[in-house]
Amino acid sequence: MTASFPPDPAFADCPDRRDTGSEKWDRWAGRDILPLWVADMDFRAADELLAAIRQRVDHGVFGYTADPPGFAPALVAHLESLHGWSPDPASITGTPGVVTGLAITARLLAAADDGILTFTPVYPPFLTLPGLAGRRVVRVPLAQSAAAWTIDWDRLEAAVTPQSRLFWLCHPHNPTGTVFGRHELLRLADFVERHGMTMVSDEIWSDLLLDGLPHIPFASLDHPAARRAITLTAPSKTWNLAGLACAAAIVPDADLRRRWRPAGGGLVPMVNPLGYAAAEAAWRHGDDWRRRLVRILEHHRDLVLAAVAQIPGLAAAPPAATYLVWIDCRGSGLPDPQAACEAAGLGPSDGRDFGLPGFIRLNTACPTPRLEEALRRLRRAFGGG
Ligand SMILES: Cc1ncc(COP(=O)(O)O)c(C=O)c1O
Repeated sequence: MTASFPPDPAFADCPDRRDTGSEKWDRWAGRDILPLWVADMDFRAADELLAAIRQRVDHGVFGYTADPPGFAPALVAHLESLHGWSPDPASITGTPGVVTGLAITARLLAAADDGILTFTPVYPPFLTLPGLAGRRVVRVPLAQSAAAWTIDWDRLEAAVTPQSRLFWLCHPHNPTGTVFGRHELLRLADFVERHGMTMVSDEIWSDLLLDGLPHIPFASLDHPAARRAITLTAPSKTWNLAGLACAAAIVPDADLRRRWRPAGGGLVPMVNPLGYAAAEAAWRHGDDWRRRLVRILEHHRDLVLAAVAQIPGLAAAPPAATYLVWIDCRGSGLPDPQAACEAAGLGPSDGRDFGLPGFIRLNTACPTPRLEEALRRLRRAFGGG
């Protein structure tokens, strides 16, 4: 699989991101540490997206901008063609970020001290946002095996209290790369329905499933809990647009949609016009680029797994989605894997931020030679030669 992999020029030469205000590259600026942490890619955006942004720039007026008429239909067309789901375009509302959308759902759908359940380990804002909104996060650990991270249904039932209002599902799951299948999603739908909770499904990674696996949008299920669910999605992971701050909330309830923006309390800005232009172009014209990207990411995932398998004390279940690999370093005996990596010139994400010390998360979305150098440094960090 990896040996015969054909290189793709679109993902070979990346712009130098140093001194561009890149969060990823500034973190260890001036030090020889390869940054493979925060989830953006070093690849340049697709030509189709750059053309759409240029066209919008040429218009020359950048006033306050609400959802342009093409925004919701472009998202629906994309969801229909990739995932076989056609939500009502009227249910779609632009929002400057998926994280913003999560924060809004906490304020709209839960009261002070109510519980928001989520599977852990998880993308850090899932752990911090409930507290910032005066709500409580309820952590439900996933079960770990060599093959995958899966739902522990007993732990899930045991976590429920009368104050449990919301479930935040990261689907596909960051950092483990788990893709939840129809059977699990239906069982989750029964679970939230039985306990009177609303499902909020963060599907920002849903266009980056690997090995041809299908993504099943939670809200596409034939289930009452799915009809009430809120879906958050964005083109930002798939097409590397995070800095353009454009995401979408799919909110079937019209009254909730009216209250969506006010729930931001004047703190949440409108989406910017360049973000809208890029999003629409991504959904309408970005699929060829996306498919080529997925092939690179599968190759990179395989490279990381092969390296991890050769380093004593490291283990990783193969991710079925994302460009992230979640590595268990506890067998290495090193007390601080993150510090060991940084000392060896590698900058992953620290598992502590995801609620699980002893792990690191590697972002594989960079040119292949850079990833190979990162893996040499990973070996060095853990004494693997
Ligand atoms: C699961 C998940 N949700 C949301 C985000 C961030 O979304 P946004 O930049 O739209 O706030 C990320 C970024 O890595 C993510 O992994």
